[in-house]
Amino acid sequence: MKKLRVGVVGCGKISGIYFKNIPQFAALELAACADLNKERAEAAAKEHKIPRVLSPEALVADPGIDVVLNLTVPQGHAPVNTQAIENGKHVFVEKPFALNVAEGQKVLDLAKQKGVLVGCAPDTVLGAGYQTVRREIEAGSIGRPVSGTAFMTCHGHESWHPDPEFYYLKGGGPMLDMGPYYLTALVMNLGPVRRVSAETSLAFGERTITSQPKAGKKMPVEVSTHLTGTLLFDSGAVVTVITSFDVWAAHLPRIELHGTLGSLSCPDPNSFGGKIELHGPNKDGWKEVASQKRFGENSRGIGLADLAQAVQEGRAPRASGELALHVLEVMLAFDKSTREGKHIPIGSRVEKPAPRGDDAIESTLP
Ligand SMILES: NC(=O)c1ccc[n+]([C@@H]2O[C@H](COP(=O)([O-])OP(=O)(O)OC[C@H]3O[C@@H](n4cnc5c(N)ncnc54)[C@H](O)[C@@H]3O)[C@@H](O)[C@H]2O)c1
Repeated sequence: MKKLRVGVVGCGKISGIYFKNIPQFAALELAACADLNKERAEAAAKEHKIPRVLSPEALVADPGIDVVLNLTVPQGHAPVNTQAIENGKHVFVEKPFALNVAEGQKVLDLAKQKGVLVGCAPDTVLGAGYQTVRREIEAGSIGRPVSGTAFMTCHGHESWHPDPEFYYLKGGGPMLDMGPYYLTALVMNLGPVRRVSAETSLAFGERTITSQPKAGKKMPVEVSTHLTGTLLFDSGAVVTVITSFDVWAAHLPRIELHGTLGSLSCPDPNSFGGKIELHGPNKDGWKEVASQKRFGENSRGIGLADLAQAVQEGRAPRASGELALHVLEVMLAFDKSTREGKHIPIGSRVEKPAPRGDDAIESTLP
C-alpha cells in the first residue's frame, strides 16, 4: 500500500502514543515533526527516530508531507489546519475540532475547495469496544434505542498534566475536552442530534496546579466546568449527559443505552476496548457480549490511518471533520441553552460513519 507521509505539529503529552503507533499502520509513514517549542520537537525526533524536525510554518508547507497530524492545543486546531489545507495537505486533528462552529465550518469549506480530506479525533470509536456496541445496536440486541445516559465526571487534569492551563481556557472544559469521546460514540450509534437543553456551572473561578513542574501555580477558569443536559436525537432517543471537572468521586456508569428489548452497558469511550454487557427483557441478569478482537488496546492513530486509506480508496474518512463539527455544535449548545434558557436546535446533520470491518485497516497493532 502507498504510504502517506505524516508531518506532526505539536509534540506534547499526547504525541507519544501517535509516534509509537504510526509506524505500525501500513498506510502511514512518520516523516517530520514540529513544535513551537523546538527542543520538544527535537527530543521527540530523537526518541522516535523521526527523520526531520521543521518549524511549524515550514512543516505545513513542506512538499515531503502529505498529511498534517495536528496535536496542538485547542486554540491551534483551526489555524494549523487552515495553513496545512491551504498548502494542499490532508489533515487529522485532535479534539475539539475548533473553538466554534463558524471556525470549524471554514476549515471544512476550504478543504472541499482544495480537494483534501479532514479527519478529527476521537478515533476510540473505531476500536474493538465501540465497534462491538455498534454491531449489537445494528443487530437489534436492544431493539429500538429509546434512551441512554453518558457520564464523565472527574476533578480536572491539573493533578497529572504538566501544562494543564489550556483545559480551563476557551476551547477547554470538560465538555470540549471529554465530550467528544462520549458524543461521538452516541452519534455513531444513534445518529445525529436534533436539539439540546442544558444547565451549566463553574465551581472554582481559579484552580491550583498540583502536577509538576508547575505545582502551586494558580490558573484562571474561563469555561463551565460542570455541564448537564439532555439530547434529543433525530431517531427520537433521549440521552442524559453530564461532563464535569467539579466531581471528586462517583459511581456513575460511562454510557448506557436502553432500547425496546433490552439495555447495553458500554465501555469507557476514551478507551479502545472494554467490557460490554447486555440485559434482555427478562430478569436473568447482565451477560457479557463477545467483543471484537482487533484494536482493543490503545490504537490512537487508527483514525489517521483510516483517512490515509480513504485518500487512496476515494472515500470519506470514518472519523471525519463533518462528524466532529456536528459533535462540536452539540457540545457548544450546552452553554448556549443555559445562557438563553431554552432548547437549542442543532443545524448540522451527519451520516453515521460506516462500521470498520475487521480487515479494513492494515496494521500490525493487535
Ligand atoms: N494529554 C492527553 O492525555 C490527551 C488525550 C487525548 C487528546 N488530547 C488532545 O491533544 C491535544 C494536545 O494535548 P496535549 O496534552 O498533548 O497538550 P500539550 O500542552 O502537552 O502539548 C501541546 C503541544 O503543542 C505545541 N503547540 C501549541 N500550539 C502550537 C502551534 N500553533 N504550532 C505548533 N505547536 C504548537 C505546544 O508547544 C505543546 O508542545 C489537545 O487538543 C488535547 O485535548 C490530549
